[in-house]
Amino acid sequence: MHSPQPERWQQVDEIIQRWATHGRSGLLPCLLEVQDITGYLSPELCAHIARHLRVPEADVYGLISFYSLLYDRPVGRVVLRVCDDVPCYVRGSSELLNALQEALGLEPNKTTADGAITLEVHPCLGRCERAPFVLINDDEIGPARAEDVLARVQAHLQSAPSTLSERAEDPAATEEGTG
Ligand code: FES
Repeated sequence: MHSPQPERWQQVDEIIQRWATHGRSGLLPCLLEVQDITGYLSPELCAHIARHLRVPEADVYGLISFYSLLYDRPVGRVVLRVCDDVPCYVRGSSELLNALQEALGLEPNKTTADGAITLEVHPCLGRCERAPFVLINDDEIGPARAEDVLARVQAHLQSAPSTLSERAEDPAATEEGTG
């Protein structure tokens, strides 16, 4: 059972209140900011946000399925996104991905058993001039070398919340949420 975390509920509520008057145009930034706090967007949280921004829940799920940086399921505390689109591929993304898979013992689109790291392969992340490009949470690295990526992953692990459940605690599941 998760322990209550009022400070997280408050952070999420502040974000939702800030975007509430923007309606549909505030949905994407609201979801991204909330996900930064909660780790992913649970069904309860999606309903909560839809209600307060006065948009259909279908719009929330549509955005989550369209936008690859939004998650409706738990992911690792550190999400490692390796671009494998053409400009990155020709500059070594395949070798980079292989080295990361081997070092982390992870297949693409999988999460380590302890919930620490998710490894994802992505189409263009919009930083082709820095190919091969990698995103570690919001941290950009490129041209990326495996050893630099792994060192940065370790740094993120030390600063990220200590447990997945701590990060994924769901403010919308309580009466403490935005009224
Ligand atoms: S192709 Fe990799 S960032 Fe654009």
